[in-house]
Amino acid sequence: MPVPRDLDAFFTANSVRIRDELFAFLRIPSVSARTEHTADTARAADWMADSLRSIGLEATVHRTPGHPVVVGEWRGARGAPTVLIYGHYDVQPAEPLELWESPPFEPTTRKGKLFARGAVDDKGQLFLHVKALEAHLAVRGSLPVNIVFLAEGEEEIGSPNLTPFVEEHASLLKADAVVISDSSMFAPGLPSILSSLRGLAYFQLDVQGPTTDLHSGSYGGAVVNPATALARIIASFHDENWHVTVPGFYDRVRAWTDDERAEVRALPFDEEVFRHETGAPTLAGERGFTTLERIWARPTCEVNGLLSGYTGEGAKTVLPSRAMAKISCRLVPDQDPSEIERLLQAHVERVAPPEVTINVTHLHGGKPWRAALDGPLYDAARRALAAAFGREPVVVGEGGSIPVVGEFDRVLGTPVLLMGFGLPGENAHAPNEWISEENFDRGMRAVAVLWEELGRTR
Ligand code: BES
Ligand code: MN
Ligand code: MN
Repeated sequence: MPVPRDLDAFFTANSVRIRDELFAFLRIPSVSARTEHTADTARAADWMADSLRSIGLEATVHRTPGHPVVVGEWRGARGAPTVLIYGHYDVQPAEPLELWESPPFEPTTRKGKLFARGAVDDKGQLFLHVKALEAHLAVRGSLPVNIVFLAEGEEEIGSPNLTPFVEEHASLLKADAVVISDSSMFAPGLPSILSSLRGLAYFQLDVQGPTTDLHSGSYGGAVVNPATALARIIASFHDENWHVTVPGFYDRVRAWTDDERAEVRALPFDEEVFRHETGAPTLAGERGFTTLERIWARPTCEVNGLLSGYTGEGAKTVLPSRAMAKISCRLVPDQDPSEIERLLQAHVERVAPPEVTINVTHLHGGKPWRAALDGPLYDAARRALAAAFGREPVVVGEGGSIPVVGEFDRVLGTPVLLMGFGLPGENAHAPNEWISEENFDRGMRAVAVLWEELGRTR
């Protein structure tokens, strides 16, 4: 089925207004990590609720101990399935600002790309869902499915308040399917359905040596340097094959089947293009696995930040009193974040030099997720993506995490579909983030067709 003519015409006729509205949304600096943006983040929640109301949904802004949760509802499709649409209206910090070619919160288009912080992750993709709903309601006066629209403002900080919210509001959020657009297509023109997300266990490691910084000549050699101690701990996480050495780390890792490996091998993946995208001199990782397997199916242990001693201009002979590292492990099915936290903490305590004091603080975590990939939801998604992109979708893995997805599975027991419209090189979390205008347009259409297809499955 092609995109129905009336819906397609609506998107075409309203494209300028839709873009202007998206720009207004993107201008709000809803940076969840920064307290100076708390009011902006609340403003983005209100903006989202108003946007839902303006198309005909009922919307509520729920206060939480952190940033608000927005819930929209439209329940007029008697007998039809109910779909929960999830996305996030918060964004990552925009720094370093000097590397942006145009300011992060002043959206602009250049050569078919729409640049702004949040353009693709996730405000642009969340907003295209609002407009897909609008098309049905404006053109036909109703929707083919019942809708619960859930937008959170804390995804980029680990969704600390969304899990309790989902538990407390399980009956409000009850649905037959969850649909999320917060990911990317494998290549331009190639619509993609996600088969998996990695989970996360994030912690901070503080190492304390002497109570104060010391003269490195008067004391160096007589006390253990906490920076060196931390370096030793970090070095102990991997062996020479980049295999994680934390005992028990791989115990629950599910290996790919031969079929899965064959499917991935069939994808149009060019190692050299991928390497070039990273700018790294060469690709490397756990021995015995391909690049895509390393990202999609293998867990990692990465240093995200490192701090100790003197890092200013020139030289300073100092023996630092403290060292700190931010460390996160990406997890794969069936690893469990709390179990990995325990294993890591035990490992760190075992390898740390006894002359320093260490402290491990758990910052956040999320379960890995794997899609079922069959049933009416996935059949409908395949048809909808084919209609909007003129090409059958591929199934791809993903290395990133969306913490609440595992909770939808666990608390609501609802199948989850992830179909995103980003592209490789989109600069999510980085300077010059963009979404392809074409993908935005096709994405709106794909989602509008998806509701039509799902409405038929009643
Ligand atoms: N949209 C991303 C997740 C993602 C990343 C999907 C790459 C597809 C491709 C999400 O907003 C994100 O950045 N998640 C964080 C989660 C963390 C802050 C708990 C991540 O993966 O680092
Ligand atoms: Mn996102
Ligand atoms: Mn993100």
